[in-house]
Amino acid sequence: MSTALVTGGQGFIGGHLVRALLERGDVVTVLDLRGAPGRALEIHDLAGEVRLVEGDIADPVVVHRAMREAGSGGAGPDSVFHLAAQTLVGPAAEDPVATFRSNVEGTWTILEAARKAEIGAVVVASSDKAYGPSESLPYQEGDELRPAAPYEASKAAADVISRSYWPGFGLPVGVTRLANVYGGGDLNGSRLVPETVQACLAGRAPRIRSDGSPQRDFLHVSDAAAAYLAIESAVREGPGRGEALNAGTGTPYSVRDVVGEIASEAARQGANPAEPEYLGEGVPEGEIDRQFVDASRLTELTGWRPRLNLAEGITEAVRWYRENSG
Ligand SMILES: NC(=O)c1ccc[n+]([C@@H]2O[C@H](COP(=O)([O-])OP(=O)(O)OC[C@H]3O[C@@H](n4cnc5c(N)ncnc54)[C@H](O)[C@@H]3O)[C@@H](O)[C@H]2O)c1
Repeated sequence: MSTALVTGGQGFIGGHLVRALLERGDVVTVLDLRGAPGRALEIHDLAGEVRLVEGDIADPVVVHRAMREAGSGGAGPDSVFHLAAQTLVGPAAEDPVATFRSNVEGTWTILEAARKAEIGAVVVASSDKAYGPSESLPYQEGDELRPAAPYEASKAAADVISRSYWPGFGLPVGVTRLANVYGGGDLNGSRLVPETVQACLAGRAPRIRSDGSPQRDFLHVSDAAAAYLAIESAVREGPGRGEALNAGTGTPYSVRDVVGEIASEAARQGANPAEPEYLGEGVPEGEIDRQFVDASRLTELTGWRPRLNLAEGITEAVRWYRENSG
């Protein structure tokens, strides 16, 4: 039976990944902060099925303990999925040092512990945000990383440091650069999809921080979890080592398109959505106006493809918040 450590397993994507790992038969340990706001293990009713280590990923003592508890007989786990991070763009701009501490120091602390524990595959969460603003779209893995804001820089730094551990130390590590992930179970109210779905279901006007023009590549969280498993197998088998791999649909949608799709779906599911309020002019300060990724390298290496299109993913998300709100 394989063993896995998931950092950030109480978070949105981490919770779905934990569920996918349990479904494939892994014994799973989660490392996350005490009182983590996402409560994913509770939401997915998985608290009794995983071992939980609470603490900070930037604390080597905590990370060492999590590695040991996740493995067996004193050895580390078979795989490490490192997703824990300060993930919000606004707080990163307000307090860059705290974000760098979690996202960069936290990442090297995990890598150092993994190097000593001889893990079979380490997968580290970077992001499409690591590319920074670019005219050259879709993003491809060979593109230069040009972060222009603290969150982007933290992800780019974690991405570069992680990949260096393959040639530098022979640690089998790969990096994920996922597009915007959405779906049921995301309790981060400042993100577009949770805010809009919950507002539409409550009949309140969704408050949108932009004018609706920014474009993003929206990847359903079930496809994101599958991308993690695909990248882990590419790292374990060899071709994904030292690589960063994009995962997304390759199709950009504007914020306005997504808000419209959510409102129509909420109405189909019996709600009475109010007109959205677009609060900004153009793109909010410090955010990128247009992003989408080319995931063909991941498809070539592993056969991974997104299964849900936007309409299907939004149908699932609206259903989830309808059944789980309140
Ligand atoms: N959500 C997206 O659209 C998206 C897209 C691309 C990449 N990512 C990356 O994927 C990963 C997971 O994202 P998410 O949306 O699930 O985020 P999330 O904010 O829902 O979850 C992050 C988790 O990390 C934990 N955490 C934060 N700092 C920590 C620390 N110092 N020590 C221990 N735990 C800590 C939090 O408590 C939380 O449970 C992140 O690394 C993020 O940067 C997310």
